[in-house]
Amino acid sequence: MSISGKKILIAISGGIAAYKIHFLIRDFVKKGAEVQVIMTPDAEQFVTKLSISTLSKKPVYTDFYSDNGTWNSHVELALWADVMIVAPCTANTLSKMVHGMCDNLVIATYMSAKCPVFIAPAMDLDMYMHPSTRKNLEMAESFGHVVIPAESGELASGLIGQGRMAEPETISNTIDHFFNSHQEAQTLQGKVVLITAGPTYEALDPVRFIGNHSSGKMGFSLAEEASKRGAKVILISGPTAQTINDKNVELHKITSAKEMLAKVFEFYDNIDIGIASAAVADYAPKEVAKEKIKKNDENLTLELVKNPDILKTMGEKKTHQFLVGFALETQNEEENAKGKLEKKNLDMIVLNSLRDEGAGFKNDTNKIKIFTRTEKKEFDLKSKDEVAKDILNFVEAQLLK
Ligand code: PMT
Repeated sequence: MSISGKKILIAISGGIAAYKIHFLIRDFVKKGAEVQVIMTPDAEQFVTKLSISTLSKKPVYTDFYSDNGTWNSHVELALWADVMIVAPCTANTLSKMVHGMCDNLVIATYMSAKCPVFIAPAMDLDMYMHPSTRKNLEMAESFGHVVIPAESGELASGLIGQGRMAEPETISNTIDHFFNSHQEAQTLQGKVVLITAGPTYEALDPVRFIGNHSSGKMGFSLAEEASKRGAKVILISGPTAQTINDKNVELHKITSAKEMLAKVFEFYDNIDIGIASAAVADYAPKEVAKEKIKKNDENLTLELVKNPDILKTMGEKKTHQFLVGFALETQNEEENAKGKLEKKNLDMIVLNSLRDEGAGFKNDTNKIKIFTRTEKKEFDLKSKDEVAKDILNFVEAQLLK
């Protein structure tokens, strides 16, 4: 599996080797990876946010708050990443990592990370050989992290010995090797998976619509994960900012519920698994005004008519398909989800509740419960990529029964 499409979180700490990270970022971006950089406050003495963000094409974070007051969530950053690389990792940052001294964004993010962590130490040779550094590196390895050893040569101090951060090429090869050797099992090889994603927009007039907050993230994560497992994926999405570049995923963009229904049934007979993560508008305006509605009166009454229930129709026409629905609830969550499982003739339903922080719309995270007619399983708050894995693991387990 290539590095393309992977999410790489680079944490830069304050050492002269930080200048080499520009080359590493450029290399990852060229290979098609998404790169997010965070830095310790001291790292800013060595490299600028401007140069790093120009190369990574994303804002660079050094603190929990940006200047405009936005909160840079260490948890979301950590859960987003497929791998985290701490490079250069100074003696100070290494020590904080292994002892849990959580006093900056880099360490808080590191301590929230569930992904593999790679450490590229860089320091002067005596510091590198010091028993405390040796011990800290050993501890890092005992946590399961990969240490990319410092190389020998001339150091910034003028001394010659081991301590130079590994060259960007070496770090990049290590990460390449990691992804190549962690190819996911092709457990959905030969299966066709149809996924609905995003919102639907129901036009009122040429400029306005009724819509909702769905970002499409959950559906796109499911599509990516199903593709990684070897499935052919038909992704039918309402208007979103999400993109996907994957040869196994056929993306069909639609706008309204009626268009989504028509697109689903172009493929329905030949799919093995259907997953409805779209937030479909339940109602649409009865009439779509040909011209922009003028604001002549104090009140405007809209007549709405029920949209087709796409998933219910899929359930009614089910022959061999395994159907997964979603339930987005705000109250009586479990009861409502189980009701939808029955009413729509589903095999499984994924419940997310807007009462759980970090769950549902827009966030990069979700918290779900899965129900079948006989089982219930509850999951922790996770990135939507991880949630997609849990859902597909559950689907696969059901298919084996
Ligand atoms: O897109 P994100 O920002 O990542 O957010 C993800 C999500 C919150 C949208 C997603 O996790 C989710 O919960 N999707 C379903 C939202 C929803 O419309 O739930 P519902 O309980 O109203 O609908 C139940 C099921 O019927 C859903 O599978 C839905 O796709 C389907 N449905 C609903 C109405 C309709 N007219 N046609 C349908 O197919």
